[in-house]
Amino acid sequence: MNRVIWVVLFIVIAVGAYMIWSSGDRGPDLAQQPGVRNGLNDEGKDQGRGRSDYNAQWQASAHAKVVEDTARDGCLQCHTEQGFINPNVKAADIGEPKAQTCNACHDFAGARNEHKLRKVEPVTLPNGVVMDRGDSNLCVACHNSRRNIQDAATRSGRKAPHGSPQGDMLMGTNGWEFGADVVSYQNSAHTGFENACIVCHMAESPPEGQPGFNEVGGHTFRVKSGDAFNRNACLECHPETVDANRPAYGDYDGDRKMEGIQSEVEGLLELLKAEIEKRIPGGGKLSESHGNVVFLKADGTEIPPEQMDEKLYLAAYNYFFVEADGSHGVHNPPYAVTLLQQSYKAITGKDVPNAEIRR
Ligand code: HEC
Ligand code: HEC
Ligand code: HEC
Ligand code: HEC
Ligand code: HEC
Repeated sequence: MNRVIWVVLFIVIAVGAYMIWSSGDRGPDLAQQPGVRNGLNDEGKDQGRGRSDYNAQWQASAHAKVVEDTARDGCLQCHTEQGFINPNVKAADIGEPKAQTCNACHDFAGARNEHKLRKVEPVTLPNGVVMDRGDSNLCVACHNSRRNIQDAATRSGRKAPHGSPQGDMLMGTNGWEFGADVVSYQNSAHTGFENACIVCHMAESPPEGQPGFNEVGGHTFRVKSGDAFNRNACLECHPETVDANRPAYGDYDGDRKMEGIQSEVEGLLELLKAEIEKRIPGGGKLSESHGNVVFLKADGTEIPPEQMDEKLYLAAYNYFFVEADGSHGVHNPPYAVTLLQQSYKAITGKDVPNAEIRR
């Protein structure tokens, strides 16, 4: 009897020890294979199917190219490999700028596992809210609004969110929450994903021969590209989904049609923009330039920031926040819809006509 207990105990300890030992090492040590090393060094060598897919996918992604005029101080921390790795580096010292390379996201130095990501510590969003969503913290180190709406609102320069507010949007924070005393700004189930961005954006690419192969999914980081949509991004939870424009739960833009969420949000963006433009003195245009919200008069001249109506500016901020997010509501449908509907109400004094109002 005693022997049996000892044998069982031995097995439990041995299995436990193996699990602890193996948990730091997912599979074979690919980083030590010369082909993978080359791929990781961006030499683009074909390393057999799995390896060449990382390369092909990354090459097809927006991360493979440096955005024009961003290899400068204040921009290069997100826009170049060199600045991301060393945020103190100066533009004058980096030589040829590199984009978001393998080496930007992965830290290979001495790592036994090539999967090791460079930055996975929790990210403090620009308004101080801390986001902690596993490996996706890496994405949000760059994909955030770069603005705190609270100071944006009190400055004479009228800041706009940077073109990358996805972290803020997913967390449902840092838009200007008009009417928050009477409506609640709710968040989507997507806000709670433990691995946030990666769940949808790095879902497996469709198999070879299928539309979207190595154009969406995996290391392309895309859910959609042209007509190709990666169903794998939603499949696990929404088996019925055929497009990112999943049927919405209400007619949020009041056009008396039940459309997909992206169409409802686009409808709201258009309505809000038209109402803002009507209220710019002289019947002007809403625009954005050098990181600021700009109101142009009919003759094309800018209204000085200090003469901008505060409410109109904040509604415009929300407009750009939802637009720049790029998911047309999918990241956080309730937050995006409420921001737009309440901005509309704040400037017009009434709810979006005929619409279902989210609260
Ligand atoms: C906190 C990180 C961060 C900083 C700092 C930053 N950017 Fe960006 N920027 C991004 C991300 C991420 C995107 C991609 C957003 C997307 O595709 O939705 C982006 C997109 C852009 C785009 C649009 C690119 C396109 O092809 O549509 C331009 C232009 C741009 N940034 C310019 C700048 C400039 C100029 C600076 C410095 C003054 C700067 N950025 C600083 C993160 C940053
Ligand atoms: C923008 C950031 C980013 C870039 C650029 C990037 N990776 Fe990754 N990589 C990731 C993330 C995040 C994961 C983890 C994905 C997950 O948790 O499912 C990953 C995972 C991996 C893995 C582990 C296996 C897997 O699929 O999970 C390999 C191998 C890999 N990357 C290789 C590369 C190579 C080679 C390149 C360049 C061609 C590259 N990566 C570029 C972010 C990046
Ligand atoms: C080092 C900064 C950085 C990191 C880390 C980063 N990105 Fe990006 N990302 C950018 C920039 C800059 C752009 C814009 C590039 C351009 O427009 O050419 C961009 C563009 C994108 C795009 C737009 C694709 C398109 O086709 O327009 C997506 C989607 C994206 N990133 C997702 C992710 C995801 C998911 C992660 C995490 C796994 C991530 N990014 C990590 C900086 C970063
Ligand atoms: C629930 C799934 C989901 C999650 C989670 C998610 N995204 Fe998205 N994302 C999408 C969809 C769908 C689109 C819209 C694609 C389209 O219609 O072109 C999108 C659009 C984008 C775009 C604009 C792409 C373009 O072509 O301009 C960027 C950048 C992006 N997401 C980054 C992120 C980042 C960073 C995170 C994490 C903070 C994230 N996403 C979380 C599904 C998701
Ligand atoms: C890991 C699970 C998961 C994934 C992956 C996922 N979602 Fe969701 N999503 C949910 C849950 C849970 C809800 C809340 C229940 C519901 O509305 O079905 C939800 C809600 C939604 C809503 C409605 C939100 C509202 O309140 O109006 C839309 C639209 C949506 N998801 C689109 C998508 C799209 C498009 C994708 C793929 C790009 C996706 N989701 C991927 C779990 C997921």
